[in-house]
Amino acid sequence: MGELRIDRLTKTYARREGWNATRYLKVFQDISFTVRDGEFVSVIGSSGCGKSTLLSIAGGLSPATSGTIYVDDRPIKGPGLDRGIVFQEFALFPWLTVLGNIAFGLKAKGLGRKERDEIARKYCQLVGLSGFEDYHPHRLSGGMRQRVGLARALAIEPAALLMDEPFGALDAQTREAMQNALSDISMKTKGTILFITHDIREAIYLSDRVLVLSGRPASVADELVVDLPRPRHRHDPVFQEYEARLEAAIGGGSYVAEEERVGKVA
Ligand SMILES: Nc1ncnc2c1ncn2[C@@H]1O[C@H](COP(=O)(O)OP(=O)(O)OP(=O)(O)O)[C@@H](O)[C@H]1O
Ligand SMILES: [Mg+2]
Repeated sequence: MGELRIDRLTKTYARREGWNATRYLKVFQDISFTVRDGEFVSVIGSSGCGKSTLLSIAGGLSPATSGTIYVDDRPIKGPGLDRGIVFQEFALFPWLTVLGNIAFGLKAKGLGRKERDEIARKYCQLVGLSGFEDYHPHRLSGGMRQRVGLARALAIEPAALLMDEPFGALDAQTREAMQNALSDISMKTKGTILFITHDIREAIYLSDRVLVLSGRPASVADELVVDLPRPRHRHDPVFQEYEARLEAAIGGGSYVAEEERVGKVA
């Protein structure tokens, strides 16, 4: 896979309010970090601190106000096949089968039908969905749908995988099963992964490093190197120490109610 480098990234949203006012919200400022080749990095932080904003900029779906994100030293300018994205909503095409969904991005890579089919089958198997190739999404459980989303993102063999709370909509049991699956898959594919979650234990279980976003505007307030061998055990006492540290770094409260009027323009 590749390297993802976030360089002095700042995002300010502007919103018209009434007929003569614009409200500005500086979500984060000067964020810099690198997800090295093959590294699994999670970003955590309270609701509204800018995690999804960061991921959508990395995906090329939203512009940065300043700063740049590089994939293997190429500045990103929009969406691209060098990044695979998995969102919380499954976002599968209901009219396509499992295999059709997984193969979807491969056409844009210019691959022929036979090759697309082979690659899609390989990733279908990797995520544990062998036997379900011809199912349509409505016949799959939430966990299975998210496996399809993951296989689709992996199938384009991107330099980096971007995941925004991919297991947020799943029940606790399915969520744990998906964490185990992702842990296995990331060990096998040695993928470069930027993973967003607000679940501290999930971040510890999966990541090589955990970054904490905090403050308004947010910045990287803490960085934890998860020094535990894999596969990990959720009952390891070190987990609890890490958890306490990250909880303290996140701080209490949510940003949702405290948007400030920072500027006014005519
Ligand atoms: N398109 C937009 N226009 C204006 N403001 C926005 C837009 N998208 C997000 N915001 C604001 O930017 C801030 C950060 O939002 P973001 O969705 O990135 O947070 P988050 O950390 O992902 O939150 P959550 O944990 O709830 O998913 C919030 O205050 C939100 O209201
Ligand atoms: Mg979000």
